[in-house]
Amino acid sequence: MAADLFDADLRTEPLAPGAAVLRGFARAADADLLADLAEIADGAPFRHMLTPNGLRMSVAMTNCGALGWVSDKTGYRYDPADPETGRPWPSLPASFLRLAADAAAQAGFEGFVPDACLVNRYEPGARLSLHQDRDERDFGAPIVSVSLGLPAVFLFGGTTRSDKALRVPLVHGDVVVWGGPARLRYHGVLALKDGRHPLLGPRRINLTFRKAG
Ligand code: SIN
Ligand code: FE2
Repeated sequence: MAADLFDADLRTEPLAPGAAVLRGFARAADADLLADLAEIADGAPFRHMLTPNGLRMSVAMTNCGALGWVSDKTGYRYDPADPETGRPWPSLPASFLRLAADAAAQAGFEGFVPDACLVNRYEPGARLSLHQDRDERDFGAPIVSVSLGLPAVFLFGGTTRSDKALRVPLVHGDVVVWGGPARLRYHGVLALKDGRHPLLGPRRINLTFRKAG
């Protein structure tokens, strides 16, 4: 809703050069995003992928867009087809594309056109350890990361794994953007705490937009 543009809690918080948290940026679009997500998950169900070490990830994942991020015992890659179904991933809905481009522009990255959206689903206890997003072909485009549902603590580290990470609390509707000098910063998510969100129940959804190909 346009009124949200004037909300006192819609603000941009710089995290580092090239990185910012856009508080509440996705809130006005939440119903549209979640309706489109339900269709995506019908076509490409959430699944727990295996790490290259053969461990089951605690976060359940699916994708939409021309390319989808997958992990299995052979490693990480972008794949135009869902390995579970052999079909192309569902396409990126207009609501997703618009939000991703608007958030990137708000953070200083004009003209962002993602071709991949990894959807992460966290239930209490699920976590994502520190990692870099580096399977994309070029690092010229930013990462746009949208939080919906239960709150979480996002870790935003440096360019080496051992750099101390900032702990950034994220709530429903917050968007984190990192690119340019921040594009390869390590990041992760602490174990999700118990709770219930009015729209999503006991879970958190994260949409991570990339230009992968
Ligand atoms: C990711 O790094 O893919 C997800 C980050 C998040 O869930 O906030
Ligand atoms: Fe990531």
